Amino acid sequence: MSTITTCPYKVLRDPDTVREVLHRPDDFSPANALLAVTPLSGQALRVLQKARFALPPVLASNASPSHAATRKVVAGFFTPAKVAALEPRIRQLSRESAAAAAQLLNAAGHVDLVQAVAAYPPAVIMLEMLGLPVRDLPQLKAWSLDSLELFWGWPDPERQLELAHTAAEFYTWLRELVLEAVAAREPNLFRALADHGLSTPEICSLGYFLLIAGQETTTQLISTTLFRLAEGSRGISWDEASSSAKARDIVRHVLATESSVPTWRRVAARDTELNGERIPAGEEILVELTGNHGFPWAAGEGTGEPAGEGTEHQGPTPYGLAFGSGIHRCLGAKLAELEAAVVVQETTAALKGVRLLDPNPEWLRLLSFQAPRAVSVTHA
Ligand code: HEM
Repeated sequence: MSTITTCPYKVLRDPDTVREVLHRPDDFSPANALLAVTPLSGQALRVLQKARFALPPVLASNASPSHAATRKVVAGFFTPAKVAALEPRIRQLSRESAAAAAQLLNAAGHVDLVQAVAAYPPAVIMLEMLGLPVRDLPQLKAWSLDSLELFWGWPDPERQLELAHTAAEFYTWLRELVLEAVAAREPNLFRALADHGLSTPEICSLGYFLLIAGQETTTQLISTTLFRLAEGSRGISWDEASSSAKARDIVRHVLATESSVPTWRRVAARDTELNGERIPAGEEILVELTGNHGFPWAAGEGTGEPAGEGTEHQGPTPYGLAFGSGIHRCLGAKLAELEAAVVVQETTAALKGVRLLDPNPEWLRLLSFQAPRAVSVTHA
């Protein structure tokens, strides 16, 4: 880990202020949303360049007027009707993985629910929804975590180089997938984007973000929810969560208090004002969307004090901000919530009477992502 002493962001916590920032995209641009938190070393950049890795702004970081039309193409794959129609498929995948998890628990005496139930259903559903082949899932999961660390973490130069290699591998895999999908006869997202006029690097850029954001964030939400249920610390018991209403309640609670995406970034596009305070062009802003576990610097003010290990979540902020707000609001919000609720419901129904094997697992803690890396349970 690099040593971080000063917070490079203006941190905004007040929900009304955060909403205002997100609703003023001309003043507060998303151009920095996908930039590496830790500047990439020359060596890491060379590895990426060799793979022709590029992330031109297309969707989440696109501050230009082309955003709206591209968003419309992507949104067509996630309409509320399409999401609702998928519920039986989500339930089927969730039941299958919950049954496999129960078998593992009985056979081995313990099971890690992150791997057994949280990891794969969101990835399968995402690829199916986008009309893309469901393949190489273990690699996709590993690449997702590596790329999140590369762009939202604090890797030292050695780790950065390792992560650049796997990001380059992922990008090369993605480009092949894009070329194959664009040429395919069946409808799919990448072909729709090509028909819309996007270039291959633009489609790869969008795909790189979407193939990670469209499944790993949901895996993380499910992981935290199952962890809190097994811990019994959030007022809804493990067994109660097997009802669909309670499963939804606990997912919403986690979304408000310690969502998988607790912060997001913006940058002042010009000299402007916020709550009467002058904000100079170029100032980078970190908005808090939900409670979070803290960062490697002191509470947001750039005081030079490192934050303590394992700070408790500081929520709740309204659940309404967990998916952002305004013209870049998450296109997968309904899908993610449905998937999380169904996986939680089916898992708690299939595995009765469990307790945490390790109440203090290692957590993934990045600037904008958080979740327990493992949720190992055993018979109570
Ligand atoms: C728990 C799961 C998820 C969380 C917490 C989450 C959160 C977010 C957040 C905070 C943003 C930025 C919003 C803003 O700038 O106002 C975002 C953008 C986005 N998300 Fe999600 N997301 C999740 C799952 C998904 C899924 C499942 C998909 C699609 C399959 C998805 C697709 C997108 C897209 C396409 C954008 C960019 C939208 C734009 O710039 O117009 N997300 N998400």
